[in-house]
Amino acid sequence: MGDAGEGTTGHIVETELLSESRISAFDIKAFITRNLRLQAAPTLPHIVLYTGHAGSRLSRLGGMDLDAPAPYWAYDWAGGTVLARHITEYPEIVRGRRVLDLGTGSGIVAIAAAKSGAAEVIAADTDANAIAATELNASANAVSITALHADLLLKEPPTVDVILVGDLFYEESLATRVLDFLTACNDAGIEVLVGDPFRAPLPEKKLRLVAEYPVPDFGEAAGAPSRRAGIFTLNRSA
Ligand SMILES: C[S@@+](CC[C@H](N)C(=O)[O-])C[C@H]1O[C@@H](n2cnc3c(N)ncnc32)[C@H](O)[C@@H]1O
Repeated sequence: MGDAGEGTTGHIVETELLSESRISAFDIKAFITRNLRLQAAPTLPHIVLYTGHAGSRLSRLGGMDLDAPAPYWAYDWAGGTVLARHITEYPEIVRGRRVLDLGTGSGIVAIAAAKSGAAEVIAADTDANAIAATELNASANAVSITALHADLLLKEPPTVDVILVGDLFYEESLATRVLDFLTACNDAGIEVLVGDPFRAPLPEKKLRLVAEYPVPDFGEAAGAPSRRAGIFTLNRSA
């Protein structure tokens, strides 16, 4: 990946929680381990993740910063869940290969890839807190992942064999940028797999559905019916 982005430090600092001010990058891991629950991911009993709940007080992370990113890394998303499941069922997709998980969030897809025998796994996200969560979750699952705090959409195609993308088509402008990047990567010979529950910005005409699973999604009430989510490759003829 060369100079693709700045690496992360991973120190757990034992400090008391800050009450009003923004949680600093250095104690986010302490916040996560104290306030989130380490539990199995939906439909994936072999993967545990620090997961948000009603008492997690995640709103404290942003403090007074209205531009602070939402803590997507604290929840299970249908796209990442279904992509992690697909890789678990078909480990040959990643076995022995260099993998990038783009928009890693909790790291669920990266962890599934590492557990399925990937040679190297890079997990990238633009939210520094997601990087901290991914490092903690990788550790909890006893896998080795390089967590990268960077916006790779601004870069040239990375030096990997496969790019995995779970639930990154949730906003129109982001979806356009992601599709452009993935198309350039695909043109450079990198295999691309997307997991998504058919959200509105998903550019379905540019994609080819290769598998579909029922899966719970973030925000659904307990016991709510699962929604469908697909695994897609780029449709090069569109
Ligand atoms: C809906 S969450 C999905 C997380 C995870 N892939 C999953 O499926 O559980 C989207 C994630 O993408 C990240 N993200 C948004 N824009 C990004 C970008 N340009 N590059 C990398 N990550 C990005 C967000 O910070 C967030 O963690």
